[in-house]
Amino acid sequence: MSDQGLVKYDGVARALHWVMALAIIIELRLGLTSDAWEANPWAPGVHKSIGLTILMLTLFRLGWRLKHTPPALPADTPHWQAVSARGLHILFYVMMIGVPLSGWIFTSAGPYPLNWFGLFDIPKLAVVKGSLLAEAAHEGHEIMGTLFLPLLLLHVGAALYHHFRLKDKVLKRML
Ligand code: HEM
Ligand code: HEM
Repeated sequence: MSDQGLVKYDGVARALHWVMALAIIIELRLGLTSDAWEANPWAPGVHKSIGLTILMLTLFRLGWRLKHTPPALPADTPHWQAVSARGLHILFYVMMIGVPLSGWIFTSAGPYPLNWFGLFDIPKLAVVKGSLLAEAAHEGHEIMGTLFLPLLLLHVGAALYHHFRLKDKVLKRML
């Protein structure tokens, strides 16, 4: 597999992709073990702080992405694969906003203060406890949060399939 003619995602897109991938994996680990939060009193604060950071980074990343066209997929990529990859990328952006935003909304209705790693307060949104919005956001957080892991596995599986099976440059464009 020669790297001749390899056009990568730009440095900012690559850095954001990998830093945020790591942050999201930590978030999923913390979120999916939230039953054990009582025994780990630091966990909810860290989950909320990392999550709100991901929300801010996503807004920046989306702005960057809209101004910087990614490198084209290999010319022989089947149409269905290109369309599904694009669909999954869009869905990831929706979830990288929807999951933390819904978390911010439903926890705003709760009794605990919101802060960023204990360093400064984060304003709570005007959401009434027990309201339809608070309940829908809570439900949405759980559903989207749970959906994240299988979608991530699909995404990683596709990247590894391209790299090791098809031996093309799809993964290298992001390294
Ligand atoms: C990308 C960022 C985030 C991801 C991937 C994520 C993921 C998750 C997941 C998977 C769960 C477990 C859901 C379940 O019970 O089945 C969870 C729970 C929770 N998350 Fe997040 N979360 C994120 C951001 C946030 C933010 C920003 C907040 C609040 C400011 C938050 C607050 C909570 C709370 C309080 C729970 C506890 C369980 C509950 O009552 O539903 N999360 N999160
Ligand atoms: C939660 C973790 C992850 C999320 C949310 C995520 C999300 C994304 C998104 C949105 C893109 C489109 C490019 C962009 O607009 O920035 C992308 C591209 C890519 N990701 Fe991930 N990613 C994650 C983890 C991973 C991992 C672990 C791998 C490697 C095994 C990987 C491999 C790739 C590759 C190769 C591309 C380029 C594919 C193409 O251009 O079609 N990603 N990812």
